[in-house]
Amino acid sequence: MPNNTAQLTIDNITYQLPIVESTAGERAIDIRGLLRETGFITLDSGFMNTGSCLSQITFLDGEKGILKYRGYDIAVLAEKCSFVEVAYLLLTGELPNQSELEQFQHDMTRYSLIHEDMIHFFDHFPPKAAPMSILSSMIGTLHDFYPEMDLDQDPYGGITTTTARLLSKARTIAAFSYKKNMGHPLVYPRGDIGYCANFLHMMFDRPNLPYELNPVLVSALNKLLILHADHEQNCSTSTVRLVGSAGVRLYPSISAGVSALWGPLHGGANAAVMKMLERILADGKDYEKYISMAKDPNSGYRLTGFGHRVYKTYDPRATIIKKTCHEVLNTSKISDPLLEVALKLEELVSNDEYFIERNLYPNVDFYSGIIYRAMGIPTNMFTVMFALGRLPGWIAHWQEMNQDKDSSRIGRPRQVYNGIVERPFKEIVDRY
Ligand code: CMC
Repeated sequence: MPNNTAQLTIDNITYQLPIVESTAGERAIDIRGLLRETGFITLDSGFMNTGSCLSQITFLDGEKGILKYRGYDIAVLAEKCSFVEVAYLLLTGELPNQSELEQFQHDMTRYSLIHEDMIHFFDHFPPKAAPMSILSSMIGTLHDFYPEMDLDQDPYGGITTTTARLLSKARTIAAFSYKKNMGHPLVYPRGDIGYCANFLHMMFDRPNLPYELNPVLVSALNKLLILHADHEQNCSTSTVRLVGSAGVRLYPSISAGVSALWGPLHGGANAAVMKMLERILADGKDYEKYISMAKDPNSGYRLTGFGHRVYKTYDPRATIIKKTCHEVLNTSKISDPLLEVALKLEELVSNDEYFIERNLYPNVDFYSGIIYRAMGIPTNMFTVMFALGRLPGWIAHWQEMNQDKDSSRIGRPRQVYNGIVERPFKEIVDRY
């Protein structure tokens, strides 16, 4: 029988700290009473070893490469489900039955338009505005166009009108931002096709050149969105929870999450990977040059798409995405030289001591860009694609945070001050 307390001895006094056990058997030392009992705080920059909440949404074992949403293995969900079903699962805790799914799909269609006044916003962004900044600001603005009600309808127990609107409208905002960027007329969502197909339709259909939906691409997009749908307490999700803990409503909390995702160390990595692969190709495939740079601690350079804070083995999402990447290119008969560069780089890295010692494997962002490219999605939209996938996860965490008394406390980390404690003030006599 394992001991359910940990002992901490400071200055010869021993304190008992409770041990919390997860449903999967992981154990954590509960330090919530530490300050009160001992006067000590803990220091953990980058939250390398700090659990910020209890959560029932996603289970991740980075040592074994396991990822599950609500108990279902990610590989099974990616193979058998639609993104809309997985969103339903994350938000409500259960997969929908047939009639629940139909109703939810119907809502995705019903809420897919955005207020026509919002369309004027697109006209006033600079022509080459970043799609992530457009997405973040437009999602924040939904708060004003679709006021969030305390008594929002919640027909499914976990999906309010507000959450359904957000899931559906974000997709329309993303596609419209692309059309505006291209200077093309907007294409409105259709009522007769699913979530992913509708996105591709809004992106690529033109009055003079109708877009033919390709089932291989629709299925690949569906998989990508599912694989991105949640990843427990990462930078953007924790941002959503932290912002929400101040009592901020859903839309502005998610808008903050979109901004956090934008960074190249997080969701922005998928675009950065493409730039890296293009650079290696343009440099005559001088792999060694880039690998050596990444290994040099003084260069500040990293091989984007490798490494992860929690995975110490192959990212299970990367395995599925790599396979999907081959399927898409083979069935679409596209030959992309960047895939060859990516495969060679992975091969070299996987045999290199530096990367082996540090457990640096390809992550979710390494192969996804090649699929997006095959779909015709421009590089500056890649992180937007990640955001569309991550939406259900962010929303589920925001809801869970609000429902749990303990984790809905306002987030307020401590710090260890290491600045000057006191200095004498010298007045400048002729200041005025
Ligand atoms: N290339 C070269 N060296 C690396 C890399 C890399 N991509 N990633 C980590 N390292 C080295 C790092 O220099 C350090 O070496 P040393 O111990 O000698 O100082 C060691 O590995 C540990 O790295 P870390 O920075 O302490 O690890 P972290 O957990 O703080 O960072 C990471 C994780 C994902 C930010 C990092 O691996 C990285 O920068 N990767 C490239 C960016 C990337 O692909 N990001 C997407 C992550 S997956 C999607 C998502 O989360 O949104």
